[in-house]
Amino acid sequence: MQAAVIQRQYDDVISSQYDRDPQNTTGRTLDRAISHLQDEGLLDSLLPALRVLDVGMGTGMFLQKLREISPRPLEPSGLDISAQMASIARQKLPDLSVAIDDGANLHRHFHGEQFDLLATHFVTGFVPMKDLAPKIMDKLVPGGCWSFVGGTSTGYPELQRRAQHPLLKLLYGGHGPSLGGMICPENQEEVAGILTDAGFEISRLETFQPRLEFPDFDAFIEYGYHGGWLTPFIEEIGLHRARRWQRSLLNRLVFPVTDHHSIVLAVARRPR
Ligand SMILES: C[S@@+](CC[C@H](N)C(=O)[O-])C[C@H]1O[C@@H](n2cnc3c(N)ncnc32)[C@H](O)[C@@H]1O
Repeated sequence: MQAAVIQRQYDDVISSQYDRDPQNTTGRTLDRAISHLQDEGLLDSLLPALRVLDVGMGTGMFLQKLREISPRPLEPSGLDISAQMASIARQKLPDLSVAIDDGANLHRHFHGEQFDLLATHFVTGFVPMKDLAPKIMDKLVPGGCWSFVGGTSTGYPELQRRAQHPLLKLLYGGHGPSLGGMICPENQEEVAGILTDAGFEISRLETFQPRLEFPDFDAFIEYGYHGGWLTPFIEEIGLHRARRWQRSLLNRLVFPVTDHHSIVLAVARRPR
């Protein structure tokens, strides 16, 4: 998926809705990530200010939560491809140091600065984790932490199964709608492999499977399209423009759906 398309979707479709966080999936996951960092002793009040860089910080949800909970003061920085997402983050965190760019260009920003904590949360579907890993290593102080959070392609098993219905395949041009390639990495093992290959020491690793309820097509669009979880996929097959008869067909064939996402959370350290 082209970075320019993703940028437009975040600027024009998602940014105004993002903080509604349908089903609290982002909020619940970020709370878990923060509790891992607490367990790692990163938020100890006796330590000097925590220099944190959030790559793909979006509306600043993580940094705001971290600031609210941390007895350790925060020096927040963030990089994002979407100026609209970043402007919401700036309102929440007036002292946020911001760069607007593709995460692939991380090495071109924050020259000469090093951080105690680097975060990449729900961005590795857009910027491959393998490309980010060495750039993140460079920006961390020895002993510094990478907080990784990423949806995996094993998420939404029930939606993926129902998308294979023969009528849906007919409706969407002979091939069933597929989430393949949109969400990555594949699983916890792949994340662990990339972290270890890049020289990180893994301190925490878990897969979180938040339950999701889609009572009908509209609830799915609120979550998947406006909420940002599946916007590229939905736009590609034109689901967001479904007509009334298509919506009622989908409500008969697919919904309601009870499903879950599958999200890997890791804390990895740069060796001292
Ligand atoms: C799903 S949101 C996650 C936001 C935030 N990390 C959070 O957990 O709430 C993905 C964010 O990544 C940004 N993004 C997408 N592609 C990017 C890229 N190539 N480089 C930098 N940021 C990107 C989007 O603009 C958006 O703000």
